[in-house]
Amino acid sequence: MKHFYIIISALLLGSLQSYASDDLAEGKSIYNATCVSCHGVTGASDTNIQLTIKPRRLKDSILSAEQMAKIISDGSHAHGAHFDIMPAFKYVYEEEQIENVAQYVSQTFNTDRNAKVKKLLSESDAKKIDAKKAHKIGKKIFKRNCSLCHGLKGDGNSIYVEQSKENKEFLFPYDLRKTLLNEDQIFLVLKFGAHYWGADKKDMPSWSRKYDDTKLRSVAHFVKTKIVGTD
Ligand code: HEC
Ligand code: HEC
Repeated sequence: MKHFYIIISALLLGSLQSYASDDLAEGKSIYNATCVSCHGVTGASDTNIQLTIKPRRLKDSILSAEQMAKIISDGSHAHGAHFDIMPAFKYVYEEEQIENVAQYVSQTFNTDRNAKVKKLLSESDAKKIDAKKAHKIGKKIFKRNCSLCHGLKGDGNSIYVEQSKENKEFLFPYDLRKTLLNEDQIFLVLKFGAHYWGADKKDMPSWSRKYDDTKLRSVAHFVKTKIVGTD
């Protein structure tokens, strides 16, 4: 009887695994046909393609597989990027195919993402402060620093950004009203900067030398509650 169960569960497990690996195989073939020219064979964006915005290094992305699927489906512009260089693939692929390619990227290039995010969050020494206080601190810092590039409304438009076009030192801050990052992720992008999480340039710097974790948490709270989703 015992053997019987072992055989049955081995069979079940085998079929589950092969189902999952079929999905990953499909994800891989879509990736290699469609994404490699921009993001590189291993998601390191080590290609020669000339674009105004270099593709993000997917191996360092802060995004979960579910969030990646949204960006692959809708394109980056729909989620805050200035340009639409990263196209919307929902017109090309079925939802399930997009999920498969997102899983492929997460499970083959971006394997340490969950552990890394968890570790960095656990190392934060942010103090718990109430929402009202966080809002006040966050708003002040946002006006003082972030609005220079992201604009007072967080939409990514400012005089400084306009001037950057004239200098050919293009700056393309995200429209934060549309970011799909959650509050923890915004905190980690602020603390370590966008380059750490896969952006090519260092225009979105790390703010950890200027502000402690409690202050950065407050800015993240302000962005998530007062900017994301506004119009
Ligand atoms: C024409 C080049 C190009 C192609 C093709 C392309 N991407 Fe992108 N991708 C980009 C660029 C550029 C960005 C960054 C967008 C920005 O900031 O403007 C990006 C961003 C992303 C992001 C967001 C990463 C993050 O951490 O924010 C994901 C996920 C992604 N691409 C996955 C894919 C997948 C999967 C495919 C294939 C189905 C693909 N891309 C095809 C150029 C491309
Ligand atoms: C010097 C200009 C500049 C300043 C100042 C700046 N940012 Fe950014 N920010 C950018 C740019 C450019 C990007 C896009 C990064 C890239 O792809 O290279 C970005 C990206 C981001 C993102 C990631 C959005 C996403 O969906 O991936 C967040 C969140 C963000 N900024 C929040 C802030 C906050 C909050 C502040 C103030 C503490 C701030 N930024 C200050 C230029 C700036």
